Amino acid sequence: MNRNILVTGGAGFIGSNFIRYVQTQDPTINLVNLDLLTYAGSTENLKDLPNPKNHHFINDDICNQVQVENILREHQIDTIVHFAAESHVDRSLKGPDAFIQTNIVGTFSLLEAARKVWLIEQKQNKDTVRFHHISTDEVYGTLAPNDPAFEETTPYAPTSPYSASKASSDHLVRSYAHSFGLPITISNCSNNYGPHQFPEKLIPLVILNALTGKALPIYGDGMQIRDWLYVEDHCEAIWAILQKGKIGESYNIGGDNQPPNIEIVTTICALLDEANPSSEYYPHSQLIKHVTDRPGHDRRYAMNIEKIHRELGWQPSVDLREGLQKTVTWYLEHTDWLNAIIKEKGYQNWVEINYQGRENQ
Ligand code: NAD
Ligand code: DAU
Repeated sequence: MNRNILVTGGAGFIGSNFIRYVQTQDPTINLVNLDLLTYAGSTENLKDLPNPKNHHFINDDICNQVQVENILREHQIDTIVHFAAESHVDRSLKGPDAFIQTNIVGTFSLLEAARKVWLIEQKQNKDTVRFHHISTDEVYGTLAPNDPAFEETTPYAPTSPYSASKASSDHLVRSYAHSFGLPITISNCSNNYGPHQFPEKLIPLVILNALTGKALPIYGDGMQIRDWLYVEDHCEAIWAILQKGKIGESYNIGGDNQPPNIEIVTTICALLDEANPSSEYYPHSQLIKHVTDRPGHDRRYAMNIEKIHRELGWQPSVDLREGLQKTVTWYLEHTDWLNAIIKEKGYQNWVEINYQGRENQ
């Protein structure tokens, strides 16, 4: 088990970090990376792999079931780690179609391919294969200030086309375990941050805008709460689930913190002030601008991570301040990456679609 791993979405943020992480754990593992290279995926994210020889990149769509079946047979895949998705809530509000297609139909295509090749053709020992599905805390909906954190048993209550599509895919994955005996695990993780994150998400967007003297857009009052996790900690948790997780189970993963968005942004500003006190934008907090809120904005997420801690011994190792420091440093040292990424895939167009017309609040 875990000798030949198919990673879907491995040219994106978390997928590429996961590939790098696995290669540092065991450089002999064969990694096949199936990625469509949408706006969010880039081979720029795969330039510094520890062992490029054991990474095989395939540029295709997870919805192409015949291709997925061929990959499973040809590369004798024993483990699928499924990251590929449309992942940005704001984009799901502007155009939900791609979310339904990739997140629901794409997951269905992977499940069907796995059922066919692993369970019907029995190309692998069905007791040692694994379909691991990467999901999100957003499937649980939103919390009031004093509500207890989400547990694995919290009923699903997604609120955006993104979270609804992820919830649908989780249900499909569970149905394949129940109906066909496909060996699955699921992880539901909170907000990730760290190197290689596309600058449409809050943290890299704020760093990029602060470096270029643009407004730092805070939706509404900025008192929405997320649970932030450094991306390497997420990769470590997934690895623990692959090694020790129980088939059929879901695991919540999170950073065990509760800062409001405004605190994240002011911390980033302070870190940039420290790194560059002679910046013409110093103090960077002068760039903060409250703008029209995200429609239907979930107010608070919080993850109860007792199960993964108790059963698999995992807990986050990077605290928020240290993680933000590492992230800011990475972006400052990788302006070439940032420039290549924002030139590549209609980034400016997205900024106009999402931010033009948002009023000052
Ligand atoms: P991302 O948007 O950075 O990357 C997604 C990758 O999937 C890209 O490389 C893209 O090219 C690829 N992709 C998209 N559609 C595809 C298709 N049809 N076929 C093949 N490849 C396709 O996403 P991310 O932030 O790395 O998130 C990865 C996974 O983790 C997603 O499933 C997301 O729902 C989940 N997740 C993300 C976070 C977070 O904070 N980023 C938190 C919890 C869970
Ligand atoms: O909770 C896990 C989820 O976290 C993942 O499933 C998603 O894939 C990932 O994108 C992320 O979703 P969020 O919507 O929480 O992430 P985002 O970085 O877009 O926003 C974080 C918070 O910051 C959220 O409350 C919205 C707010 N925000 C975001 C942007 C882009 C702003 O205030 N201004 C902004 O410009």
